[in-house]
Amino acid sequence: MPIKEAKFIWRDGEFVPWHDARVHVLSLAVQFGSSVFEGIRCYPTARGPAIFRLNEHLRRLFDSCKIYRIDLPHSLDTIREACRETVRRNALDMCYVRPMVLRGYGAAGMLPTDSPVETFVCAWPWGAYLGPEALANGVDVCVSSWQRMQPNTFPAAAKAAGHYVNAQLMKMEAAANGYAEAIGLGPGGLVSEGSGQNLFLVLDDALITPILDGTSLRGITRDSVIAIAREMGLAVHERPVPRETLYVADELFFTGTATEVTPIRSVDRIRIGGGSAGPITRELQSRFMAIVRGERPSPGEWLTHV
Ligand SMILES: Cc1ncc(COP(=O)(O)O)c(C=O)c1O
Repeated sequence: MPIKEAKFIWRDGEFVPWHDARVHVLSLAVQFGSSVFEGIRCYPTARGPAIFRLNEHLRRLFDSCKIYRIDLPHSLDTIREACRETVRRNALDMCYVRPMVLRGYGAAGMLPTDSPVETFVCAWPWGAYLGPEALANGVDVCVSSWQRMQPNTFPAAAKAAGHYVNAQLMKMEAAANGYAEAIGLGPGGLVSEGSGQNLFLVLDDALITPILDGTSLRGITRDSVIAIAREMGLAVHERPVPRETLYVADELFFTGTATEVTPIRSVDRIRIGGGSAGPITRELQSRFMAIVRGERPSPGEWLTHV
Protein backbone atom coordinates (compact mmCIF):
# COMPACT_ATOMS: atom_id res chain seq x y z
CA MET A 1 0.00 0.00 0.00
CA PRO A 2 1.85 3.16 -1.15
CA ILE A 3 1.89 6.32 0.99
CA LYS A 4 -0.72 8.89 -0.04
CA GLU A 5 1.10 12.17 -0.10
CA ALA A 6 0.02 15.16 1.94
CA LYS A 7 1.40 18.69 1.44
CA PHE A 8 3.58 19.56 4.42
CA ILE A 9 5.87 17.89 6.92
CA TRP A 10 6.90 19.45 10.24
CA ARG A 11 10.65 19.53 10.57
CA ASP A 12 12.25 20.85 13.76
CA GLY A 13 9.84 23.73 14.22
CA GLU A 14 8.86 24.63 10.66
CA PHE A 15 6.75 23.19 7.89
CA VAL A 16 8.48 22.13 4.68
CA PRO A 17 6.89 20.90 1.45
CA TRP A 18 6.35 17.11 1.44
CA HIS A 19 9.26 16.29 -0.89
CA ASP A 20 11.72 18.61 0.90
CA ALA A 21 11.70 16.56 4.12
CA ARG A 22 14.98 14.83 3.23
CA VAL A 23 17.88 13.24 5.10
CA HIS A 24 21.40 12.48 3.89
CA VAL A 25 22.06 8.95 2.60
CA LEU A 26 24.84 8.61 5.20
CA SER A 27 22.60 9.58 8.12
CA LEU A 28 22.91 7.07 10.95
CA ALA A 29 19.18 6.48 10.59
CA VAL A 30 19.69 5.27 7.02
CA GLN A 31 22.93 3.38 7.62
CA PHE A 32 22.07 1.73 10.92
CA GLY A 33 18.34 2.17 11.62
CA SER A 34 18.97 4.79 14.34
CA SER A 35 15.53 6.30 14.52
CA VAL A 36 12.55 6.09 16.84
CA PHE A 37 9.03 6.83 15.80
CA GLU A 38 5.34 6.59 16.55
CA GLY A 39 2.29 5.56 14.58
CA ILE A 40 -0.85 7.39 15.66
CA ARG A 41 -4.31 7.58 14.16
CA CYS A 42 -6.56 10.56 13.78
CA TYR A 43 -10.26 10.00 13.21
CA PRO A 44 -13.12 12.24 12.12
CA THR A 45 -15.54 13.05 14.95
CA ALA A 46 -18.62 15.30 15.21
CA ARG A 47 -16.31 17.94 16.75
CA GLY A 48 -13.71 17.67 13.96
CA PRO A 49 -10.65 15.44 13.65
CA ALA A 50 -9.34 13.95 16.90
CA ILE A 51 -6.01 12.20 17.49
CA PHE A 52 -6.41 8.98 19.44
CA ARG A 53 -4.35 8.68 22.65
CA LEU A 54 -1.83 11.26 21.51
CA ASN A 55 -0.38 11.74 25.00
CA GLU A 56 0.30 8.03 25.47
CA HIS A 57 1.94 7.77 22.05
CA LEU A 58 4.16 10.75 22.79
CA ARG A 59 5.07 9.32 26.17
CA ARG A 60 6.20 6.17 24.36
CA LEU A 61 8.15 8.27 21.82
CA PHE A 62 9.99 10.03 24.63
CA ASP A 63 10.60 6.67 26.35
CA SER A 64 12.02 5.27 23.09
CA CYS A 65 14.38 8.27 22.94
CA LYS A 66 15.44 7.71 26.53
CA ILE A 67 16.17 4.02 25.95
CA TYR A 68 18.28 4.85 22.88
CA ARG A 69 19.96 7.83 24.61
CA ILE A 70 18.58 10.29 22.06
CA ASP A 71 18.32 13.83 23.43
CA LEU A 72 15.13 15.05 21.82
CA PRO A 73 15.58 18.80 21.47
CA HIS A 74 11.83 19.55 21.73
CA SER A 75 9.38 19.37 24.63
CA LEU A 76 6.43 17.01 24.65
CA ASP A 77 4.12 20.03 24.34
CA THR A 78 5.96 21.13 21.18
CA ILE A 79 5.62 17.70 19.56
CA ARG A 80 1.97 17.48 20.63
CA GLU A 81 1.24 20.83 18.98
CA ALA A 82 3.28 19.80 15.93
CA CYS A 83 1.08 16.70 15.54
CA ARG A 84 -2.12 18.73 15.77
CA GLU A 85 -0.81 21.42 13.42
CA THR A 86 0.40 18.84 10.88
CA VAL A 87 -3.12 17.41 10.64
CA ARG A 88 -4.61 20.92 10.39
CA ARG A 89 -2.11 22.26 7.81
CA ASN A 90 -2.69 19.28 5.56
CA ALA A 91 -6.48 19.57 5.99
CA LEU A 92 -6.67 15.89 6.96
CA ASP A 93 -9.24 14.13 9.09
CA MET A 94 -8.94 10.32 8.82
CA CYS A 95 -5.17 9.94 8.80
CA TYR A 96 -2.03 8.40 10.22
CA VAL A 97 0.39 10.63 12.13
CA ARG A 98 4.05 9.65 12.14
CA PRO A 99 6.44 11.55 14.44
CA MET A 100 10.07 10.47 13.85
CA VAL A 101 13.22 11.29 15.77
CA LEU A 102 16.36 10.26 13.96
CA ARG A 103 20.10 10.54 14.06
CA GLY A 104 21.30 12.44 11.02
CA TYR A 105 24.52 12.88 9.06
CA GLY A 106 27.88 13.23 10.81
CA ALA A 107 29.08 10.24 12.80
CA ALA A 108 30.94 7.54 10.86
CA GLY A 109 30.79 4.74 13.40
CA MET A 110 28.71 3.42 16.24
CA LEU A 111 29.09 6.37 18.62
CA PRO A 112 26.35 8.72 17.43
CA THR A 113 27.45 11.91 19.19
CA ASP A 114 28.59 13.60 15.93
CA SER A 115 25.19 13.14 14.33
CA PRO A 116 22.49 15.75 14.93
CA VAL A 117 19.07 14.67 16.16
CA GLU A 118 16.40 15.55 13.60
CA THR A 119 12.68 15.52 14.33
CA PHE A 120 9.86 15.20 11.83
CA VAL A 121 6.09 14.90 12.07
CA CYS A 122 4.36 13.54 8.99
CA ALA A 123 0.70 12.74 8.38
CA TRP A 124 -1.13 11.19 5.47
CA PRO A 125 -4.57 9.79 4.71
CA TRP A 126 -4.82 6.12 5.63
CA GLY A 127 -7.64 3.61 5.66
CA ALA A 128 -7.72 0.09 7.13
CA TYR A 129 -4.18 -1.43 7.25
CA LEU A 130 -5.25 -4.95 6.34
CA GLY A 131 -8.23 -3.72 4.29
CA PRO A 132 -11.91 -3.10 5.21
CA GLU A 133 -12.67 -6.73 4.37
CA ALA A 134 -10.23 -7.81 7.11
CA LEU A 135 -11.99 -5.69 9.75
CA ALA A 136 -15.33 -7.27 8.86
CA ASN A 137 -14.43 -10.88 8.14
CA GLY A 138 -11.05 -11.49 9.71
CA VAL A 139 -7.67 -12.53 8.33
CA ASP A 140 -5.79 -15.77 7.74
CA VAL A 141 -2.42 -15.73 9.48
CA CYS A 142 0.54 -18.01 10.14
CA VAL A 143 3.04 -18.50 12.90
CA SER A 144 6.28 -17.09 11.54
CA SER A 145 9.44 -19.12 11.19
CA TRP A 146 11.20 -15.90 12.27
CA GLN A 147 11.34 -15.34 16.01
CA ARG A 148 10.94 -12.09 17.88
CA MET A 149 13.99 -10.68 19.64
CA GLN A 150 15.53 -12.13 22.77
CA PRO A 151 15.15 -9.73 25.72
CA ASN A 152 18.27 -7.62 26.20
CA THR A 153 19.22 -7.78 22.54
CA PHE A 154 16.95 -5.11 21.08
CA PRO A 155 14.81 -3.22 23.63
CA ALA A 156 11.33 -4.30 22.57
CA ALA A 157 9.64 -1.51 24.55
CA ALA A 158 11.27 1.08 22.27
CA LYS A 159 9.63 1.68 18.91
CA ALA A 160 12.83 1.90 16.90
CA ALA A 161 13.13 1.69 13.12
CA GLY A 162 15.90 -0.93 13.19
CA HIS A 163 13.62 -3.40 15.00
CA TYR A 164 11.33 -3.48 12.00
CA VAL A 165 13.69 -5.46 9.76
CA ASN A 166 12.54 -8.45 11.83
CA ALA A 167 8.91 -7.41 11.26
CA GLN A 168 9.58 -7.15 7.51
CA LEU A 169 11.00 -10.68 7.42
CA MET A 170 7.87 -11.94 9.18
CA LYS A 171 5.52 -10.03 6.93
CA MET A 172 7.30 -10.94 3.67
CA GLU A 173 7.34 -14.63 4.54
CA ALA A 174 3.63 -14.50 5.44
CA ALA A 175 2.77 -12.73 2.17
CA ALA A 176 4.88 -15.16 0.12
CA ASN A 177 2.85 -18.02 1.61
CA GLY A 178 -0.52 -16.34 1.04
CA TYR A 179 -1.21 -15.12 4.59
CA ALA A 180 -2.29 -11.63 5.60
CA GLU A 181 -0.08 -11.47 8.68
CA ALA A 182 2.36 -13.38 10.84
CA ILE A 183 2.43 -14.15 14.54
CA GLY A 184 5.90 -14.15 16.06
CA LEU A 185 7.03 -16.44 18.85
CA GLY A 186 9.53 -15.27 21.43
CA PRO A 187 12.88 -16.99 21.90
CA GLY A 188 11.30 -19.30 24.51
CA GLY A 189 8.79 -20.54 21.93
CA LEU A 190 5.81 -18.73 23.49
CA VAL A 191 3.53 -16.39 21.55
CA SER A 192 4.81 -12.82 21.37
CA GLU A 193 3.00 -10.58 18.86
CA GLY A 194 2.37 -9.88 15.17
CA SER A 195 4.70 -7.99 12.84
CA GLY A 196 3.11 -4.72 13.94
CA GLN A 197 0.28 -5.63 16.27
CA ASN A 198 -0.49 -7.24 19.62
CA LEU A 199 -2.69 -10.27 19.93
CA PHE A 200 -5.67 -11.35 22.05
CA LEU A 201 -7.37 -14.71 22.54
CA VAL A 202 -10.87 -15.33 23.83
CA LEU A 203 -11.01 -18.56 25.77
CA ASP A 204 -13.97 -19.58 27.95
CA ASP A 205 -15.36 -16.02 27.86
CA ALA A 206 -12.14 -14.51 29.23
CA LEU A 207 -9.67 -12.34 27.33
CA ILE A 208 -6.06 -13.48 27.28
CA THR A 209 -3.06 -11.60 25.92
CA PRO A 210 0.65 -12.50 26.08
CA ILE A 211 2.55 -10.86 28.92
CA LEU A 212 5.01 -8.09 28.06
CA ASP A 213 8.16 -10.18 28.41
CA GLY A 214 10.71 -8.07 26.56
CA THR A 215 9.81 -9.53 23.14
CA SER A 216 6.87 -7.29 22.24
CA LEU A 217 5.73 -3.68 22.17
CA ARG A 218 3.43 -2.35 24.90
CA GLY A 219 0.66 -1.49 22.48
CA ILE A 220 -1.60 1.46 23.17
CA THR A 221 -4.47 -0.26 21.38
CA ARG A 222 -3.78 -3.31 23.57
CA ASP A 223 -4.14 -1.09 26.63
CA SER A 224 -7.33 0.46 25.20
CA VAL A 225 -8.90 -2.93 24.52
CA ILE A 226 -8.05 -4.13 28.03
CA ALA A 227 -9.80 -1.05 29.47
CA ILE A 228 -12.85 -1.53 27.22
CA ALA A 229 -13.02 -5.24 28.09
CA ARG A 230 -12.94 -4.45 31.81
CA GLU A 231 -15.78 -1.95 31.30
CA MET A 232 -17.71 -4.81 29.66
CA GLY A 233 -17.10 -6.93 32.76
CA LEU A 234 -14.80 -9.38 30.97
CA ALA A 235 -11.98 -11.07 32.87
CA VAL A 236 -8.62 -10.10 31.31
CA HIS A 237 -5.51 -12.18 31.88
CA GLU A 238 -2.01 -11.23 30.79
CA ARG A 239 -0.12 -14.50 30.79
CA PRO A 240 2.33 -16.67 28.83
CA VAL A 241 0.60 -18.16 25.78
CA PRO A 242 1.86 -21.43 24.25
CA ARG A 243 1.53 -21.65 20.45
CA GLU A 244 -1.09 -24.41 20.52
CA THR A 245 -3.44 -22.24 22.60
CA LEU A 246 -3.88 -20.14 19.45
CA TYR A 247 -5.39 -23.08 17.59
CA VAL A 248 -7.95 -23.91 20.30
CA ALA A 249 -9.00 -20.33 21.13
CA ASP A 250 -12.70 -19.52 20.72
CA GLU A 251 -11.74 -16.20 19.15
CA LEU A 252 -8.54 -14.47 18.20
CA PHE A 253 -7.81 -10.90 17.15
CA PHE A 254 -5.02 -8.41 16.54
CA THR A 255 -4.82 -4.92 18.01
CA GLY A 256 -2.70 -2.02 16.80
CA THR A 257 -2.94 1.56 15.69
CA ALA A 258 -2.73 0.64 12.02
CA THR A 259 -4.57 -2.69 12.39
CA GLU A 260 -7.21 -1.38 14.85
CA VAL A 261 -9.16 -4.43 16.09
CA THR A 262 -8.89 -7.08 13.37
CA PRO A 263 -10.38 -10.57 13.82
CA ILE A 264 -8.23 -13.60 12.95
CA ARG A 265 -10.15 -16.43 11.35
CA SER A 266 -7.38 -19.00 10.92
CA VAL A 267 -3.83 -19.70 12.05
CA ASP A 268 -1.64 -22.02 9.96
CA ARG A 269 -4.85 -22.97 8.08
CA ILE A 270 -6.48 -24.16 11.30
CA ARG A 271 -9.89 -22.52 11.66
CA ILE A 272 -10.39 -20.43 14.79
CA GLY A 273 -13.81 -20.79 16.44
CA GLY A 274 -16.48 -20.47 13.76
CA GLY A 275 -13.97 -19.15 11.19
CA SER A 276 -15.23 -15.57 11.29
CA ALA A 277 -15.25 -12.65 13.74
CA GLY A 278 -16.53 -13.93 17.09
CA PRO A 279 -19.11 -12.10 19.24
CA ILE A 280 -16.66 -10.77 21.84
CA THR A 281 -14.27 -9.56 19.13
CA ARG A 282 -17.15 -7.83 17.36
CA GLU A 283 -18.33 -6.11 20.53
CA LEU A 284 -14.83 -4.92 21.42
CA GLN A 285 -14.24 -3.75 17.86
CA SER A 286 -17.51 -1.86 17.71
CA ARG A 287 -16.95 -0.15 21.10
CA PHE A 288 -13.38 0.72 20.08
CA MET A 289 -14.48 2.25 16.76
CA ALA A 290 -17.27 4.22 18.49
CA ILE A 291 -14.79 5.60 21.04
CA VAL A 292 -12.20 6.69 18.46
CA ARG A 293 -14.91 8.50 16.51
CA GLY A 294 -16.19 10.22 19.65
CA GLU A 295 -19.53 8.41 19.47
CA ARG A 296 -19.07 6.78 22.86
CA PRO A 297 -17.34 8.05 26.01
CA SER A 298 -13.86 6.63 26.46
CA PRO A 299 -12.58 5.17 29.73
CA GLY A 300 -9.99 8.01 29.88
CA GLU A 301 -9.06 11.28 28.15
CA TRP A 302 -8.33 9.53 24.89
CA LEU A 303 -9.18 12.10 22.21
CA THR A 304 -7.14 15.19 21.38
CA HIS A 305 -9.07 17.39 18.97
CA VAL A 306 -6.87 19.08 16.43
C1 LIG B 1 5.69 -4.44 16.82
C2 LIG B 1 4.41 -3.81 17.20
N1 LIG B 1 3.64 -4.38 18.14
C3 LIG B 1 2.47 -3.85 18.53
C4 LIG B 1 1.99 -2.69 17.96
C5 LIG B 1 0.70 -2.11 18.42
O1 LIG B 1 0.95 -0.95 19.17
P1 LIG B 1 -0.09 0.24 19.19
O2 LIG B 1 -1.40 -0.34 19.59
O3 LIG B 1 0.45 1.18 20.21
O4 LIG B 1 -0.12 0.81 17.83
C6 LIG B 1 2.75 -2.06 16.97
C7 LIG B 1 2.28 -0.82 16.34
O5 LIG B 1 2.75 0.22 16.66
C8 LIG B 1 3.98 -2.62 16.59
O6 LIG B 1 4.73 -2.05 15.64
